[in-house]
Amino acid sequence: MQEIKFYSGENIPLELHKVRIVQKLNLVPIERRLEALNEGGYNTFRLSTKDVFLDMLTDSGTNAMSDNQLAAMMQADDAYAGSQSFVRLQKAVEDVLGKKLLLPVHQGRAAENIIATAYVKKGSLIPMNYHFTTAMAHITQNGGKIAELLYDEAYKINSDHPFKGNMNIEKLEEVIKHQGANNIPFIRMEASTNLIGGQPFSVQNLRDVRAMADKYGIRLVLDASLLGENAYMVLKREEEFKNSTMGEILKIMTGMADLVYFSARKLSSSRGGGMCTDSMIIYKELEALVPLYEGFLTYGGISIREIEAMAVGLYETLDESMICQSPSFIKYLVDALDAKGIPVIKPAGVLGAHVDAMQFCAHIPQTEYPAGALASALFLISGVRGMERGSISNQRDEYGNETYADMELLRLAVPRRVFTLSQIKYVEDRLNWLYENRLLIGGLRFVYEPPVLRFFMGGLEPTSDWPQKLMAKFKEDFGESL
Ligand code: F0G
Repeated sequence: MQEIKFYSGENIPLELHKVRIVQKLNLVPIERRLEALNEGGYNTFRLSTKDVFLDMLTDSGTNAMSDNQLAAMMQADDAYAGSQSFVRLQKAVEDVLGKKLLLPVHQGRAAENIIATAYVKKGSLIPMNYHFTTAMAHITQNGGKIAELLYDEAYKINSDHPFKGNMNIEKLEEVIKHQGANNIPFIRMEASTNLIGGQPFSVQNLRDVRAMADKYGIRLVLDASLLGENAYMVLKREEEFKNSTMGEILKIMTGMADLVYFSARKLSSSRGGGMCTDSMIIYKELEALVPLYEGFLTYGGISIREIEAMAVGLYETLDESMICQSPSFIKYLVDALDAKGIPVIKPAGVLGAHVDAMQFCAHIPQTEYPAGALASALFLISGVRGMERGSISNQRDEYGNETYADMELLRLAVPRRVFTLSQIKYVEDRLNWLYENRLLIGGLRFVYEPPVLRFFMGGLEPTSDWPQKLMAKFKEDFGESL
């Protein structure tokens, strides 16, 4: 795709689509936002969208759908078994991901459940570039453990490394030798490592992982939920692929994995999920679990309408003018925040902008969840809903001890083709104000902590009356402005 330059020299991401359906947003007064935080236990998952202005919680199921996706939903062939919609999806998976055998599931974590149920047992170890919350929970629920094998560069907030999601190959071999290949049912590679700031891996790194998997006879599983954006980063950042198409890169990557699974809520801007492979052995190992947990093999718990949207959405990930939108808006926001000295993960990755709460709220100890506090503070002063990706999102260890996250991040997701530039500028503006007033932000503590995936429904409270003080300062500076 050719670059589009502005005569002014400004670097502005340009929308390559037009808005045809709109949804009105609410920007409620700060007093109501404080009430909403109190009602929702200072957990942005528990806010109601009627109180949220810009919803940057996630890109999962919130990417804008295209006219062609919506049109395809109308031709759904509703049938419990043998639906033609599923045949169309199979064809799209084969065309885009290059795999012939498809098992549908209702969303990404359902694939993780089935894969962990089939392969993980007590004593299993799963090496991975980095964990995702639900992937890890399913592995540990089945008695397994994980080993995260990134290079040191990945943990540096301020870096110019193009592929911070790369697996550390030397460590991978050490772990395999130490653990024994027999106890490693698969190696997991996550495209655009979600929890360390949406950072991609390179094709070369995947080749090296594949070589190691071959050397020791271990399966390679690819979490392709954010593969479209990872492929886009390969196109932009890996010299060897600068003249390739999205389709070529996607197939090269999936071609190296024995099993590919994905959340269609992200990958194809729809709902649903899937697991695909060329191996009949793997297919058979997983097949029986789909009707058991999900639904029959030709819908897997997904509505047939969504299956049609998935198929079209998969083809659309091949379109660079669609896939470039979210990363270019993220880069704009990251560069703008960075220019103001606000600590943010660099280089800009995919999925969202990631603010480093450890530095932003350096005065809040990790025991008081700086990223959760920052998410609450930003919502209070702006109505922008981000997501905590730090210690609250971590799970306790097997002895019940708190485990602190490597990074305390406030993730501001930029779903595909949803926000306009002035909305992004609003986020930048309010974060600037908050940064100048950051010492008014205080800590949080749990009042209700669920035993599994605590970040979803957990309840917290502020450790002092800091939200009231922050609100007072906001009113002093902004007067009657919302
Ligand atoms: N893998 C990755 C890399 C993900 O980002 C997600 C979801 C999943 C698996 C699970 O998929 O939600 O369809 O069950 N990530 C969402 C997020 C929830 O907000 O980052 P799911």
